[in-house]
Amino acid sequence: MNATGREDSLSAGDVEPRLRTRWLGRVYSFHHCLGSTNDEVARLARTGAPEGTLVVADTQTGGRGRLGRSWVSPPRENLYFSFLLRPAWQASDLPPLSLVVAVGLARGLEPFVGTLPRLKWPNDVLCAGRKLSGILVEMATEEARVAHVVVGIGLNVNQQSFPGELSGIATSLRAAAAREFPRAEVLATVLLALERSIERIYQGDRAALLAEWEERACHLGREIEVRGRDGSVRGVALGISPSGALIVRDAAGRRQEVLAGDVQPIEGFG
Ligand code: BTN
Repeated sequence: MNATGREDSLSAGDVEPRLRTRWLGRVYSFHHCLGSTNDEVARLARTGAPEGTLVVADTQTGGRGRLGRSWVSPPRENLYFSFLLRPAWQASDLPPLSLVVAVGLARGLEPFVGTLPRLKWPNDVLCAGRKLSGILVEMATEEARVAHVVVGIGLNVNQQSFPGELSGIATSLRAAAAREFPRAEVLATVLLALERSIERIYQGDRAALLAEWEERACHLGREIEVRGRDGSVRGVALGISPSGALIVRDAAGRRQEVLAGDVQPIEGFG
């Protein structure tokens, strides 16, 4: 239920009339509860589901984040969804899809928050320095080519309080805008923006998308530490490489390209 006492439904009957996309979400499946929407889309991909197939869950029991973390997925408040892409890409030459998705997501969220959503490498969307949304891209390959890609998005919409350590780092649209939002409307709006970003990368518009990512980034030109599985790099974040790596100038003046990890500001992100 929302503040007006109506159920804030994500059923096909509530979402499809609002959809303005051409292909993203046109095959739509809603579940009250799933382990992980990414797993469900991967399963559908193996049965031949088409590009743009979308799976939405009201809650997840095994929601996953990047770097093996879990994604806490309480019911009725937020959006948890995944969709299927079937790009004709070689595994050795992948465009930075997660950054492209982050640009689309930030564009789609702009109408809902008073301020410009900012991006934190590689693919977090922030509002007032706190995490509003996360993206998990998982890919299957067949020999040298990409067989399919699953893009999963967790977006905090109406959640008002966050447990434990999340309380200091997470936010929601409701917290940012001081009002509740119908999740179906938010979903339809971000799907249209995501479809546009993905079509741009399919058409080869990589440089412009990366430039837009850099314009929206919260940490370029600032001192950061990137913590990864193989240690950490500290220095000034300079920009993004064509493949989506974070370019950092370390204390010795060396230019490093970081492929994976978590960015921590040396001072907070505003
Ligand atoms: C991150 O910031 O670490 C990425 C979080 C991605 C969470 C979403 S929720 C929908 C989809 N299903 C999952 O299991 N994970 C993604």
